[in-house]
Amino acid sequence: MTELITGIGELTTQAESSDPGERLHDAALVIGDGRVLWVGPAAGAPAADHRTDVGGRAVLPGWVDTHTHLIFGGDRSAEFESRMAGQAYAAGGINTTVAATRTATEEQLVATARGLRHEAEAQGTTFLETKTGYGLDVASEARSARAAASIADVVTYLGAHIVPAAVNRRDYLDLVTGPMLAAVRPHVQFIDVFCEQGAFDVEESREVLMAGRAAGLGLRVHGNQLGFSGGVRLAAELGAHSVDHCNHLHSTDIDALAAGTTVATLLPACDLSTRQPFPPARRLLDAGVSIALATNCNPGTSYTTSMPFCVATAVLQMGLTIGEAVWAATRGAARSLGRDQGPDAVGSLFVGGRADLQVLNAPSLSHLAYRPGVPLTGAVWRQGVRRDA
Ligand code: NIG
Repeated sequence: MTELITGIGELTTQAESSDPGERLHDAALVIGDGRVLWVGPAAGAPAADHRTDVGGRAVLPGWVDTHTHLIFGGDRSAEFESRMAGQAYAAGGINTTVAATRTATEEQLVATARGLRHEAEAQGTTFLETKTGYGLDVASEARSARAAASIADVVTYLGAHIVPAAVNRRDYLDLVTGPMLAAVRPHVQFIDVFCEQGAFDVEESREVLMAGRAAGLGLRVHGNQLGFSGGVRLAAELGAHSVDHCNHLHSTDIDALAAGTTVATLLPACDLSTRQPFPPARRLLDAGVSIALATNCNPGTSYTTSMPFCVATAVLQMGLTIGEAVWAATRGAARSLGRDQGPDAVGSLFVGGRADLQVLNAPSLSHLAYRPGVPLTGAVWRQGVRRDA
């Protein structure tokens, strides 16, 4: 069964040859068997079994959300409310969610995460990473990893989120890099560490990441969220796929990222919810650093699944152009997962690639920031299967 999607007023493919802002007009796409079969001017489109006319709307790849923490129990709205009344965010709040996660059943954890995934998909997200990190003992992390693998496309092991209350630091590091890593390994592709005051220092983070690398995992780092933690420098030095947050950067951090391949993943919804200064996105881009945008959906610092909100905020508050923000939320995000090239690439539309795409109820991408807060997702295809938003 093939489907011709035509009447596309503005098509953004993010394909190899296109620059971040490039858009085609009066375009069409043919999809079938979950893949893109043809892309080009509508006038030259081949016939297909089924035809969908999107009436001049904009079409783009589905969002790739590379930083979420969906496996959790409980709620931290009271903490959020006190933060909005002036209380500072601190890493220790994670303990509240750890307690609630441990008492939840696996079914409850999966149901919450699945609900959030559906919420994300209704807003155009077609590929999603999630993390463990609220279990923090061997059984709870293994259960979180299993739950995560049942709802997400990519799973990251974050046993090194914090040292749980009443556990010896050295013992916990041995657990994270030993039995806990072995228990989650069948379900995860990446390892992550929260390199921050109140969590793990640079040398501890290095130890965690090296253990993950030895187990065949890709590397991600939570770095420089609340201060100059050294996480960004460490991520660049180790050639991590991604370093996430990046709110506090010295120019030497930017130089280190520019000299390597690590993607800087920026989390604007989290910055608003924790009242952190936004990262210097413009300086990163101007230095040649690849950036990604993600929601960081979690109950503590960023309880949103909305990639459109992140894109709008990146444009309105962080100085990105529309094209740059959309690239960062699609192809740039895919790069941070090592999925921007090859037949299983995500975040771009090319012949032979995955048919992960969305239609906006708008004639142009610019409406994502021009009409902030307005639900513009019209329809979403994930691996060629349509869901109406
Ligand atoms: O990415 N920074 C570390 N981890 C999460 C927040 C976790 C929490 O406070 O529950 C984040 O913001």
